[in-house]
Amino acid sequence: MRRIFVLFLLVVFIAPARAARQPVHARHAMVVAQESIAADVGVSVLQKGGNAVDAAVAVGFALAVTHPFAGNLGGGGYMLVRLSDGRATFIDFRERAPERASHDMYLDAQGKPTRDSIEGWRSSGVPGTVRGFELALSKYGKRSWNDDLAPAVELATKGFPVSYALSQSLRISRSLGTSADSKRIFQKNGAFFDVGDLLVQPELAQTLERIARNGANEFYEGETAQRLAREMSSHGGLISLSDLKGYRAIERTPLQGTYKGYTILTAPPSSSGGIALLEMLGILEGTNYERGGAGSASAIHYLAEAMRRAYADRNEYVGDPDFVKVPIAGLLDPAYLARLRASIDPERATPSSLVRPGRPAGTEHDQTTHYTVVDAEGNAVAVTYTLNGGYGNGITVPGLGFLLNNEMDDFAAKPGTPNMFGLVQGESNAIQPGKRPLSSMTPTIVVKDGKLFMTAGAPGGSRISTAVLQVILNVVDFGMNVQDAVDAARVHHQWLPDTLSLEHGISPDTVALLQARGYTVDYAPGVVLAQVAAIVNDGDWLQGGSDGRSAAGKAAGY
Ligand code: DON
Repeated sequence: MRRIFVLFLLVVFIAPARAARQPVHARHAMVVAQESIAADVGVSVLQKGGNAVDAAVAVGFALAVTHPFAGNLGGGGYMLVRLSDGRATFIDFRERAPERASHDMYLDAQGKPTRDSIEGWRSSGVPGTVRGFELALSKYGKRSWNDDLAPAVELATKGFPVSYALSQSLRISRSLGTSADSKRIFQKNGAFFDVGDLLVQPELAQTLERIARNGANEFYEGETAQRLAREMSSHGGLISLSDLKGYRAIERTPLQGTYKGYTILTAPPSSSGGIALLEMLGILEGTNYERGGAGSASAIHYLAEAMRRAYADRNEYVGDPDFVKVPIAGLLDPAYLARLRASIDPERATPSSLVRPGRPAGTEHDQTTHYTVVDAEGNAVAVTYTLNGGYGNGITVPGLGFLLNNEMDDFAAKPGTPNMFGLVQGESNAIQPGKRPLSSMTPTIVVKDGKLFMTAGAPGGSRISTAVLQVILNVVDFGMNVQDAVDAARVHHQWLPDTLSLEHGISPDTVALLQARGYTVDYAPGVVLAQVAAIVNDGDWLQGGSDGRSAAGKAAGY
């Protein structure tokens, strides 16, 4: 009897509530990142007295060393910050099209899009990461630039042991094999890194040291800039010294909306992510979609229809706000959202051919990584930054040791034809010199009763905002813990192609029910719909969810 009681106690108190991964719990502060060494860098910065912005900058520079797949100096992204006193800000350090870019630069003589927006030196936008981190740190950090860069310098100088995930990823990357410097640095000229081998990056270490010593100007005007511009011009790339000198990170007001009494702070344009997220939440609220239960065909049906409608608008109306007027208020207007909600047939898929971008008021026709930090004071930061493709365009700048982005592919190279993520976008996102290509990145912070409740974000191209949506809904509507919410199978619809992508955790029976409702499904093994990093504040504990879809990620705290 006693043995049975002890067993009962063990089951109740030690075993998880159900067969699920438990979140990582921390009392004071938490970092979730897609690479564990960088996550630990963040925790150590917090323990040394840095705040969440310091940790975010240090993690960002560390990922540029330990997670070259997406961590970067040569790319760009967004940082959403919410301070414990409730102030919130958004740093836009998205790449810009070079001055010599033009509307049809990626079309061949027949007017067909070429692969130049994805491959080669011409695919890069002007990088924004270093300026973005400088702006964030100078306005909101506590420590010095040099201190926050130090861990990255050390990791590049001394090297770090290659994980299983990194060794596999470096081995299979074809783009790295196309650049002599990338092949030498990241693939040992074809001998490849084994698990546990040290990856030492002396050129990158020197670049980081110069940036630490001379500030962000080093990257935009100094020796690094001169070298980058020289290499660009000798390889037919477009980025000039004047592009680099002219690059500015922009501080913007975060987009703000509500869902069932929660306040959602998220990414404004030049990302489409926040608009899509708020539009989807706005369509779903009031449908009672959640009655079917998490993962049910009826709940997925409503998700897909909300996604389809929001992406039709996203693709048509959203672009760099410095170049096009984005009808944000119209897209998020409750009456407009109610019209979209009413257009959903509760039982049947609406073919995308029947869903046109709506007519919101104010309309004028005219591979990435996410990490998140909460510090002991309750300041929260969500960063998504990227080179676009895994390892960007695969080109390491000779002598500088960092990879270049291929973010120019996020533009509509030919409005009306799909890009790398299959997005069919309009003139709002056509190429113009100095313009930021439209992003889907969606760093998001959820606030409840004036207090931090949740942070979330993801890499995954066009699938980012739908992934962030589902993780928030899993917590808010389905009561999942943050780890379950992140791990649960996801779905994605982006209007065009008219296909519902489903991860394999969705049961075959459910898939059959969705097909019966009229969906064409993509249910291939290995479909991975973004990789979310999220933190939930339950009032007592910070709970970290690192996505099981990425082998190298980690939630860590103290
Ligand atoms: O900004 C964007 O939307 C894309 N460049 C993000 C790319 C991405 O997430 C790739 N990772 N899977």
